[in-house]
Amino acid sequence: MKLSSLPRKLKRGLPYLKKEIRAIVSDRTPFFIAVPRTVHIWRDGPCNAKCIMCSYGFLPAEVLGKLWKSPFTDNLMPRVLNEIHELCGRGTLVSYMGGEPTTSRHLVDWIEQAGQLGLDFRFTTNGYIMDEEMARRLVTAGLFNIGISLESLDPGINETIRPFPDGTAKTLRCITLLLQERKRQNKHVSLNIKTVLTDINLESFLEIVKRFGKMDGVMCTPQIFEPLDGMPEATRNLLSVKDNHRLRQVTDQIRGLKREGYAIHVTDQALDDMVKQNQEDQRHAFTMSNKQLEMDSSQPACNIATDNLWIQDGAVKLCPYFPPVGNMVSDAKTTVKELWQSETARKTREQTRACRRLCTISCLRRTPLAHKVSTFLKIA
Ligand SMILES: C[S@@+](CC[C@H](N)C(=O)[O-])C[C@H]1O[C@@H](n2cnc3c(N)ncnc32)[C@H](O)[C@@H]1O
Ligand code: SF4
Ligand code: SF4
Repeated sequence: MKLSSLPRKLKRGLPYLKKEIRAIVSDRTPFFIAVPRTVHIWRDGPCNAKCIMCSYGFLPAEVLGKLWKSPFTDNLMPRVLNEIHELCGRGTLVSYMGGEPTTSRHLVDWIEQAGQLGLDFRFTTNGYIMDEEMARRLVTAGLFNIGISLESLDPGINETIRPFPDGTAKTLRCITLLLQERKRQNKHVSLNIKTVLTDINLESFLEIVKRFGKMDGVMCTPQIFEPLDGMPEATRNLLSVKDNHRLRQVTDQIRGLKREGYAIHVTDQALDDMVKQNQEDQRHAFTMSNKQLEMDSSQPACNIATDNLWIQDGAVKLCPYFPPVGNMVSDAKTTVKELWQSETARKTREQTRACRRLCTISCLRRTPLAHKVSTFLKIA
């Protein structure tokens, strides 16, 4: 991080710090005054690819048709952004996920609206259709952070997981275009290169980190492969990390690279959880038991519902694994703020705090303040 960018980052971080204080008060006293620091908008939507580890890649056409269409239609986005602003104010991360976002005609409009409201918009892309024009418009619109998915620098590996003609070169070009454009406009959009750790690309993540992890405003994120419902057995077998000792070695190397100053967005706790989850998942698949996996009893309570909110195809949730506290599609009157402060939300928060599930949102579950601050300084 350049020292000259510190004042700008601190100014941008101030609303987040205020939210953090409100969260601490809410978690440690009887007074709940927290508002979301991150709002995740998750919806179905079209995609231009068929990655083998993703539902879009393996679900049959009739089910896929439903995945392309969400009851949460594009015209609801402006209302949602206004209501997020009403509840959370400036300095709120709006994390958008819906198929391949760059295929949406309205993406830039939403980013512009978010920018005008002081919300920090981010999304993740495969980068295939990024060109000079799109990079220019996204950076001009005030995009805060962009995730770019890449499984390996080696096309043979990357395109086994993400089969797309010339996909590796296209994704790498997307990264280059965004770096060039932000330099040209002197803007500060940060890049987050995301890699799913599977049996065929485990060490590839280390290569990606070495290539990008020390560039200013770029970070790398490992995500453990999740065998999804309906995934073909052959894909599950190909991608599941079989040797947990090898995964442990890679997570140790990730820790080492972090110590060397590479920007890697993962806590030590999340790395431990990945190894545990992978080990348990294999047993789970072997015994075909439906038992939910649980975290160590020594782990602290989950405080996800203190400062995160999900809007999932219109359903408003405090955790994706819990029932909604309201719905923006079927109920146009109740605002996000009213739902956040409702009695239903209060009761749900009691349940999420007591939850012991070993879930894949562990990176958000309980992140040390020091990690949050260092991550923010990298992405702001
Ligand atoms: C579903 S994609 C949507 C965004 C965009 N289309 C893309 O590919 O980046 C969001 C992220 O989920 C990851 N992902 C997809 N399937 C996964 C799986 N089975 N396990 C873990 N991560 C997965 C992708 O690699 C990507 O980084
Ligand atoms: S590009 Fe993204 S949404 Fe599309 S198939 Fe691949 S991982 Fe899934
Ligand atoms: S532990 Fe996981 S599933 Fe349970 S409430 Fe927290 S984030 Fe949700």
